[in-house]
Amino acid sequence: MTPVVRTVADLRALARSWRAKGETIGVVPTMGALHDGHLSLARRARAECDRVITTIFVNPKQFNNPEDLKKYPRSEAADAALLATVPVDAIFAPLVEEVYPEGFITTVSMAGVAQPLEGHMRPGHFDGVATVVTKLFGMSMADKGYFGQKDWQQLQVVLRLVRDLNVPVDVVGCETIREGDGLAMSSRNVRLTVAGRAKAPVLYAAITAAADDIRAGHADRMAIREAAEAMREAGFERVEYIELRDAETLMPSDDPRRPRRMLAAAWIDGVRLIDNIPV
Ligand code: PAJ
Repeated sequence: MTPVVRTVADLRALARSWRAKGETIGVVPTMGALHDGHLSLARRARAECDRVITTIFVNPKQFNNPEDLKKYPRSEAADAALLATVPVDAIFAPLVEEVYPEGFITTVSMAGVAQPLEGHMRPGHFDGVATVVTKLFGMSMADKGYFGQKDWQQLQVVLRLVRDLNVPVDVVGCETIREGDGLAMSSRNVRLTVAGRAKAPVLYAAITAAADDIRAGHADRMAIREAAEAMREAGFERVEYIELRDAETLMPSDDPRRPRRMLAAAWIDGVRLIDNIPV
């Protein structure tokens, strides 16, 4: 079985012993409830690093909705069994008190790329992410950190953070893993009802169609309006945003010569889904 480490002291002792032998370390931060998307990151780390640490920590600081935090799925035993198939060298699964002990007062706070879209809809979310990722990089002494493009804005936040704070971690962005019908894998998908699950792939289909139209020369706004329409018709109760943005800064972009990304968030049967694709 994969060793499960609970304390920062034990994780650092392990990391130091590997570093002393000249071994490289890859870290894969997760909140558990693992699926093939997470495992693809761990497999990539396995291929590129001598040692792989997967962290499982449901970070309270990045939840702006206490209900969402309470309902977040937890399945450590199943997660460990999945990680054994990769395999990884260690699982770091600390308690909240270990990560945020009494007296903790520091926050990594980011403007710019952390502000629009998810940052706007979920105030404080990216400060929580930036804080915990900075800590996990420090605790794991990793050379490389693996993140999914599924959370595109988060990936840009982490890239920005390591540049701004001179964190010596090479951040690797990995492709979004999807179900056969196109729905991006997500720990939240288990909350979908059967009917919701059936309609959920329309999110990806709609933004894919819009991106195709834009590449074919259609007006951005028109293509996006049609995508939102298609989603509402399919039964999405709320389309929070569908936006065409500069892929790196996440600012509005009508310059097709720069890499652009279409990002969307929408609610289906009470579950909030996000997705994004290159344009
Ligand atoms: P979590 O949602 O568990 O995701 C962990 C990592 O898996 C993230 O980098 C995410 O982008 C990636 N991931 C999720 N679904 C994916 C998919 N379908 N394809 C590819 N990668 C996928 O993101 C977080 O946790 C947290 O914010 C965290 C970074 C751990 C900080 O708390």
